[in-house]
Amino acid sequence: DPSIVSVQELVKEPLDSIPESFIRLDQTRPHVLPSKSDHIPTIPTIDMVKILEPSDRSLNDELERLHFACSEWGIFQALPQPPGAESSFRFAFLTVLITQQLVNHGVSLSLLQKLGLEIEEFFKLPLEEKMKYKPNPGESEGYGNVMRSEKNVLDWGDRLFMAINPISLRKPHLFPELPAPLRSSLETYIKELKKIALQILRSLAICLHIDTNVIMELFEEEKEFQALRMTYYPPCPQPELVIGLTPHSDATAITILHQINCVNGLQVKRNGVWLPIDILPDAFVVNVGDIMEILSNGTYHSIEHQVMVNSESERMSLAMFFNPKLDAQVGPAASLISLKNQALFRNITMNEYVQGLFSQKMDGKSYLDRMR
Ligand code: SIN
Ligand code: FE2
Repeated sequence: DPSIVSVQELVKEPLDSIPESFIRLDQTRPHVLPSKSDHIPTIPTIDMVKILEPSDRSLNDELERLHFACSEWGIFQALPQPPGAESSFRFAFLTVLITQQLVNHGVSLSLLQKLGLEIEEFFKLPLEEKMKYKPNPGESEGYGNVMRSEKNVLDWGDRLFMAINPISLRKPHLFPELPAPLRSSLETYIKELKKIALQILRSLAICLHIDTNVIMELFEEEKEFQALRMTYYPPCPQPELVIGLTPHSDATAITILHQINCVNGLQVKRNGVWLPIDILPDAFVVNVGDIMEILSNGTYHSIEHQVMVNSESERMSLAMFFNPKLDAQVGPAASLISLKNQALFRNITMNEYVQGLFSQKMDGKSYLDRMR
């Protein structure tokens, strides 16, 4: 099927040269590989439990840190507790939130581990099996290398992208047809991540001095729009010639990313410079998306990011996109607008935003800029 490109299949045979369709045009862009010896500024880390327990002073401190992370950076990571550590704040974050229904501490990390293995297994399926999940004509959901950058250069990675909630959006040949163990782990995972996402959004509303009800109404239970993308980036013999994922910002309120096998590659653009991100094991990376930039009237930054690949290791990631319900009107929060602070973005429905975006090629933050 000529409409499906699988990089994973491509690298099964030794490659003499990188096929032209993958060669990125902007070879002047510096290609920085994460290296432990570089001075990599770590992205802010936020202790979720301090946000969840509104009783003491640490709440305000942590909310201030969250506000700083979202306005100065647009990205942060939420860490689990290091194994064996006594005070369990950070670990409690993962435990409480990921495994609220389950019995003990170890389980949350084992869910992450199980899910990681199941995703790896999914990508190891023979191509004929994965072809069952190919996109319907003209659609972006499904398996394959389906997204092209503005310049029609293919990304060095295969992905499975699908809408998950509301349930009515699930394409019959995608999520419902996944191998049962993967489907069931994902079902648990998305429920738990939804709780985390809502908690973060509630905290952001507090930081921004927006009435939390105004925000929460956009994410009305059972109607919020949630999607998943799992990506497999094979090693590339000449990584400097290609890009794993072309520069873009996310069309989400927030995105929660799990880097499955501890191989780095994510880079974020800060003050015009691409910075490699060193993601800690089992941490979630949370990034502010376009919708949050709009809601906050530009106070928070939807961070531009890209993925680089390397010649040695495959990389896998799982991104959960969290969005208002599709019929929500999205615009700068009314309480942030005054004569002195004019609205920087126009109002648009969530659905219009997503449809508009999918009809474009990815090109940094150019789509968001058109909402100004
Ligand atoms: C990744 O880090 O693999 C994905 C990042 C993204 O979804 O933009
Ligand atoms: Fe992204």
